[in-house]
Amino acid sequence: MKPELLTREALRAFAEKHRTAFEAELKTLVEIPSISADPSKKPDILRCAQAAAQLFENYGGRAEVLETPGNPLVLGRFGDDPSLPTVTVYNHMDVQPANEPEWTSDPFAFTVEGDTYRGRGTTDDKGPAVTALFGALAAREAGVPINIKFLWELEEEVGSPSFAKGITVHKEKLRTHAIVVSDTVWITRGKPSTPAGLRGLKGFRLTLETADHDLHSGVVGGAARNPLSELIKVIAEMVDGETGQVKIPGFYDEVVPPSAEELENWRTSGFTVETFKKDHMIFGMRTEEPLEVLKRVWGMPTMEVHGLVGGYTGPGIKAAVPPRVEAKLTCRLVPDMDGDKTIQRVKAFVNERFPDVDFHVEHGLAPFKGHTTGPYAEAIKDAYAFAFGAPCAFTREGGSIGAVRTMEEVLGCEVYFLGLSLPSHGYHAPNENYDWEQAGGGIAAFARYFQTVSTFKG
Ligand code: BES
Ligand code: MN
Ligand code: MN
Repeated sequence: MKPELLTREALRAFAEKHRTAFEAELKTLVEIPSISADPSKKPDILRCAQAAAQLFENYGGRAEVLETPGNPLVLGRFGDDPSLPTVTVYNHMDVQPANEPEWTSDPFAFTVEGDTYRGRGTTDDKGPAVTALFGALAAREAGVPINIKFLWELEEEVGSPSFAKGITVHKEKLRTHAIVVSDTVWITRGKPSTPAGLRGLKGFRLTLETADHDLHSGVVGGAARNPLSELIKVIAEMVDGETGQVKIPGFYDEVVPPSAEELENWRTSGFTVETFKKDHMIFGMRTEEPLEVLKRVWGMPTMEVHGLVGGYTGPGIKAAVPPRVEAKLTCRLVPDMDGDKTIQRVKAFVNERFPDVDFHVEHGLAPFKGHTTGPYAEAIKDAYAFAFGAPCAFTREGGSIGAVRTMEEVLGCEVYFLGLSLPSHGYHAPNENYDWEQAGGGIAAFARYFQTVSTFKG
């Protein structure tokens, strides 16, 4: 091993030296529109898997595209010495759609402006993936005695429907001592955080049909049912639009409040409502009390209305009574909640009061309870402090990553998080971006993490 290559200065120099290559590789991946939600993009998903595999081979690794019942997984490997510990880094290569009108550049053209990289997938999650890869290259160059695997998914953004089957079938190839996921956000720039929990997700749709075509509201209005206003009433009885409070009996029964220690971590995490609003460009909030904001986002379940489709929305007046309406909703779940139980409560509530409304249950993800102590948690803390000179807070994430629980269950080891994204990078938002400060520091953080973990006994 060459420890002189693992100082902060040497790793920063490594990152600078490879910056052009980093940008070129990220550009290649970002310019492939690997949108998992869009069936017409299947060829791009497959092209992205090939490009990802090629990337590992370009840098002296071995790569395989692993089949699953759905989109493939990509497995990249550096080192294969059975006497050494093995660590696996998880990222996803699929992205959200990018049809928001607010994009100021083509979402699938990688643009560089100073230290900022813009394009769909730059921060969620291609940028962190390529960062981890360059961190591995730095560790390899320094001779860190460890095997490193990369497991890149292409179905994360649709809830990882084939991930469990995929990793079960390829379990032997995926044997590992440690798993680190890089797909989470910091508190804000300069304030790293690592989650000790993720929310789960359960989706459902409501449909209501009261006629088979548009009706003249002057002719039948007043007597005929209006499915749009009826469904709005259903939704309003389920969730208070102003407070967000879910009104379904028993909805909060399994919620375990955060512990005193967790609350203390959250309180001292450096979170402020002002930067939260600025980073996310939010106009107004339901509460301005910082700890209350964190409790709501990290520690409480929600019911969110995402879309309501029906009726006339074109120019001018078309005063029709619409025949049908559809609403799309999800509930975010916190640890100890059971998605099936929750959705059954919601369904029973709707069926009982509004028997005409059809309730369609969609795919779900279980919530995840993480780990904050032990050598692997310390290795994460150390990596952030070493690379960014800032302490990391143990927080939670309000978002969901389907693969996390599945990896713990199937691969039999705990998952930790070394995320690099910032709230201002705009997950799923128009003008999504990533930047060199996070990437350059991230390369050093990953190299340091690999070095630390190489000293652990498997
Ligand atoms: N990287 C996110 C998960 C995430 C979100 C972590 C917010 C930290 C904060 C992931 O790519 C994601 O967007 N997950 C989806 C999953 C869903 C579409 C099944 C989510 O949380 O909505
Ligand atoms: Mn992600
Ligand atoms: Mn995402």
